[in-house]
Amino acid sequence: MSRAIFIRNANQLVTLQGSSHAPRVMGEMSELGIIENGSIWIEDGVIQAVGTDEELAAKYEARLSEAEVVDASGKLVTPGLIDPHTHLVFAGSRENEFNMRLQGSTYMEIMNAGGGIHATTRRTQAATHEELFHESFERLNQFLRHGVTTVEAKSGYGMEWETELKQLEVAKQLNEKHVVDIVPTFMGAHAIPKEYKDQPDEFVRLLIEEMIPKVAELGLAEFNDVFCEHGVFTPEQSRKILETGKRHGLLAKIHADEIEPYEGAELAAEVGAVSADHLLKASEKGMKAMAEKGVVAVLLPGTAYFLMAESANGRKMVDLGVPVALSTDCNPGSSPTVSLPFIMNLGCLKMGMTPAEVITATTINAAHAISRGGEIGSLEVGKKGDVTIFNVENYMKLQYSYGVNHTDTVVKNGQVVVRGGHLVEELSLS
Ligand code: NIG
Ligand code: FE
Repeated sequence: MSRAIFIRNANQLVTLQGSSHAPRVMGEMSELGIIENGSIWIEDGVIQAVGTDEELAAKYEARLSEAEVVDASGKLVTPGLIDPHTHLVFAGSRENEFNMRLQGSTYMEIMNAGGGIHATTRRTQAATHEELFHESFERLNQFLRHGVTTVEAKSGYGMEWETELKQLEVAKQLNEKHVVDIVPTFMGAHAIPKEYKDQPDEFVRLLIEEMIPKVAELGLAEFNDVFCEHGVFTPEQSRKILETGKRHGLLAKIHADEIEPYEGAELAAEVGAVSADHLLKASEKGMKAMAEKGVVAVLLPGTAYFLMAESANGRKMVDLGVPVALSTDCNPGSSPTVSLPFIMNLGCLKMGMTPAEVITATTINAAHAISRGGEIGSLEVGKKGDVTIFNVENYMKLQYSYGVNHTDTVVKNGQVVVRGGHLVEELSLS
């Protein structure tokens, strides 16, 4: 049995209580359930009590000396942040393309000329399992230093079975070896490999007849994702890919309407996807269909920023009743960052969301975007002891004071893993 942790006397304790069953929409996204002078008691990795410091000090009076006390006075305490869309496991970087884009090349031109996703695919194919593991482990450490305790991670830099399998196996090993939890997604449908350029349906056949069934059988992914985009996978091919995944027990996610309008949001609603992501060019009809079906919009304003594009209309989606989550999209091409707090700032300034809404979008709604709403994303009795303490007095200041990592302490499964902004020693494995 692990030692109890008593986080005491936060200036603001953001609980987000009461939304374990469904993501928050519209006005609910602004209700943070804040407790002033708030405290939490965590034991055996699970939250046992949440309330004012006075209440908890009285409740645990007889056991105070047993617990490890974390003083949060003057600070902001939130549920551990959740990143519901990352391409965590990859090799190398693409700063050369960044330079090319600054001189006028576009993201799609670079990809169609054999760079972009294809470039990272070659690097990832060439990397050993160990190399990929170490590179991704270090990225996870960085996520943790930014207050993130759970990330979704996609394959998709393989585009052939061996490398897709290698990425998913690395993700599995990371989940076992690193304290950050990983939710794995199969994204074999990330691009059409060069050798299938003239017969893309043949690659789709390979995905639906061979790869998806094998991934499901091996239990290596929970979700199945596709890049539905003009020049990549058509809505028709995407539908087949997602429906096949569902038949094999993989929940659907979709990269939708990122570069051009393509009715991806509509498709997400039609196939009952858990989330549709990107949505820069989503139609109002598509947004309304998502709202009706409760499909979570995972918005990635860091990608729009990095590709110098107009962000998705987060404000409109919230107002139409779409449950909105935010994510880094961490990947080497369109969003090489692990800073979810920076993404929160962009959510405010580039998408018109309020500081309260972006907190909801990176906690409880992000949990729902990866089907974890019952376990994480809020601070309430019975949920995992995943908590982030920021060195700011209130939740608005977290977004306002941007470009600074305010993460002070992170508690994961009831253990302090970041203290004073640094990983605790035992964690520095790599
Ligand atoms: O989510 N849009 C497609 N896939 C990734 C980018 C991957 C890459 O450029 O390596 C994205 O933006
Ligand atoms: Fe992505």
